[in-house]
Amino acid sequence: MKMNALPKIACIGAGNVGATAAQYCLEMGLGNVVLTDIVEGLPQGKALDMTEAGPIRNYSVTCTGTNDYADISGADLVIVTAGLPRKPGMTRLDLLEKNGRIIAGICEKIRQYAPDSIVIIVTNPLDVMVYLACKTLGFPSNRVLGMAGCLDSARMRAFIAMELNVSMTNVDTMVLGSHGDAMVPLPQYTTVSGIPITKLLSRERIDAIIARTRDGGGEIVRLLKTGSAFYAPAAGAVRMAQAILRNERQVLPCAAYLNGEYGLSDIYMGVPCLLGRGGVESLVQLDLTDEETAALHHSAGEVREGIDGLRQLGLL
Ligand code: APR
Repeated sequence: MKMNALPKIACIGAGNVGATAAQYCLEMGLGNVVLTDIVEGLPQGKALDMTEAGPIRNYSVTCTGTNDYADISGADLVIVTAGLPRKPGMTRLDLLEKNGRIIAGICEKIRQYAPDSIVIIVTNPLDVMVYLACKTLGFPSNRVLGMAGCLDSARMRAFIAMELNVSMTNVDTMVLGSHGDAMVPLPQYTTVSGIPITKLLSRERIDAIIARTRDGGGEIVRLLKTGSAFYAPAAGAVRMAQAILRNERQVLPCAAYLNGEYGLSDIYMGVPCLLGRGGVESLVQLDLTDEETAALHHSAGEVREGIDGLRQLGLL
């Protein structure tokens, strides 16, 4: 990126999550946004609509829509939300194959047109898709990361704030592991203005909040009936983009490549990462209890099953 030039952000997938991520980037003035999708007219229409909101919402960054990957040329950061949600009757393997083929195809294009970018994957099954992305892109692993922990942690923060009737911004928490039922929320690293929640809530209430966090995506799907969550997932991705593009050096839970950390190798999973202009600048090693370590390794087992599935499908 040139000094003082506004970053170029490519949002691939102009559906609910991608368009909302684009909107947050524009509202924050984080950079000029290129919205890309395979559906003709969809990214162009949404980009024009967001541009027309600019004079009222007071942003001067630009948003363009395209079906041509050449338009992402030179992007500093790419947020990938393209893919299908799991539909009734679809097996996990079906979803793995469909989204795996989409992610592999998109990563070929990113490698071609934005070879110096930092790539944030949002498409599910998250940890498996970001592993595939890293292998397909061939980028150093610090430039390929996945969004899940920011979302899961935000959900847990919101539930704690609701329970205690305190500001959500006072609550800090850490959710590690894979994105899904096997996520690993860490009550010992959860505080309200520095006060451990174990001093503020009973074990029973903490367990109930953890259960609701695990089911966070499902709860929204049941309410919406069609479609799945997108405001909070997009917010999670843009939080990471902000930390990277503004070189904030924030510690956030992200799906990152593990090379021996937490006793795990050659896998992507949610761990605390120091994010800055280089992407994942380092991984933070937390002291975990034996129970938490076992939960993290169980989570890794589920991710490995997905990675094996990709191998069977010939995608790796
Ligand atoms: N290139 C670009 N866009 C694509 C491609 C592709 N190869 N394949 C599909 N898309 C687009 C679709 O046309 C659609 O506009 O991806 C978009 C997905 O949008 P939605 O169906 O609205 O899905 P969304 O709710 O945004 O979720 C996207 O994020 O949180 C995850 O689980 C969620 O995997 C899902 C992803």
